[in-house]
Amino acid sequence: MTELSGIRTSGPAHLGNYLGAVRRWAAGQRPDDVFLVADLHGMTTTHNPHRLRQYARQAFALLIASGVDPARALVFVQSDLVREHAALTWVLECTCTYGEAKRMRQFREKSGGQDSVRLGLLTYPVLQAADILLYGADRVPVGEDQHEHIELARALANRFNGNYGEVFVVPEGVLPAVGAGIKDLAEPTRTMAKSSGETPGVVFVLDSPELIRRKVERAATDDLGTVRFAPKEQPGVSNLLEILGACTGVSPREIGADVADYEQLKSTVADAVVEVLRPVRERMTELLDDPAELDRLRALGAARARERATPRLEAALKVVGLG
Ligand code: TYM
Repeated sequence: MTELSGIRTSGPAHLGNYLGAVRRWAAGQRPDDVFLVADLHGMTTTHNPHRLRQYARQAFALLIASGVDPARALVFVQSDLVREHAALTWVLECTCTYGEAKRMRQFREKSGGQDSVRLGLLTYPVLQAADILLYGADRVPVGEDQHEHIELARALANRFNGNYGEVFVVPEGVLPAVGAGIKDLAEPTRTMAKSSGETPGVVFVLDSPELIRRKVERAATDDLGTVRFAPKEQPGVSNLLEILGACTGVSPREIGADVADYEQLKSTVADAVVEVLRPVRERMTELLDDPAELDRLRALGAARARERATPRLEAALKVVGLG
C-alpha cells in the first residue's frame, strides 16, 4: 500500500497546508509512502526564480520538520527528477483530452478565460497525474480542492492500461475528516491559499507568534454574536472553529458550546495555532540554517525516488512504442 501526496511551491506553506495535509502525512507514514515538494507546479503562473528555489527548500524542510522521516518514507523535491516527471507527463498528455483538461475547476477559475495564461496552467493536472502514477500510489490524501485532479489521474491510468497494457496502479483520493478546507481568515468564503496576493488572512508556517496572533485577532466574523459551527450562515466563526478543531483534535461542532464570545474564540484559536506551529517552525529554521544537512537529505530522497520511478517509466515508454 503506497500513499502519495505533494505540496506545490507557488508560495510559502500555510496553515491550511499544514493542518489539512502535511501533519497527516507525517502521522500516517509507512515505509512505502511518497511525499513530494512539487516545485514544477510552482511555475504555472508568473513566478520569481529565486523565490521558487527558496520555497522548495522551505517546503522540503517543512516536511522533515513535521516528522516525515526521510529514512522511512520517500520524501524528495520533484525537480530533482525533472526528466522522469517531464517524460511521463508527455506520455500522459497524449492520453488526456483537451476537453478533460479545460474542464478542471482550478483552470477555469484561475485562467478567467484569458488566452494569455501559461499553457502549464492547463496541463499541470496531467503533471500531477504523472507524479502519482510514476510511484504506483494506491491512495492520495488531498484536500477537497484537489479531488478532481485525482479523478483525472484515475481516468488516465485506466485509459492508459486499457489502451497499452497494465502499467499503472489506479489511485484513489482520500479526504481528511477535519481540516480539509481551512478558509482565508479575512475572507472566510475563500480557501486559504498561497497565491492570495495580499495575505492578512493567510497564516504562514514561518510566521512569528505575534504575527499569527494579529492575523487571528483580525479574522472576519459576523454580528450574530453566537459561537456555533454553521459554515453557511457564519463562515468566519465556523472557520475559526474548524481551525481549533484541527489543532486540538476535537470536532468543531462540539467546541462551540464551550466558548463564550468571539474574543475568547479568537484568543483560544491564536493560542492553539501558535502552539501547533511552534515546534515545526523551530525545527524548520534549524534545518534551513544547516544547508549541508538539507542537501544531504534531499540527495538521499532524489536517489531513492529515481530508483522507485525508473522501472515504471521505462515500462510506460516501452508499451507506447518509444525507445
Ligand atoms: P497545494 O500545494 O495547493 O496543497 C498541498 C496540500 O495542502 C492541502 N491544502 C489545504 N488543506 C486544507 N485547507 C486549505 N486551505 C488547504 N490548501 C491546501 C491540499 O489539498 C493538498 O493536500 N497540485 C497539488 C500538489 C501536488 C500533488 C501531487 C498532490 C503536486 N503533485 C500529487 C497530490 C499528488 C497542490 O497544488 O497542492
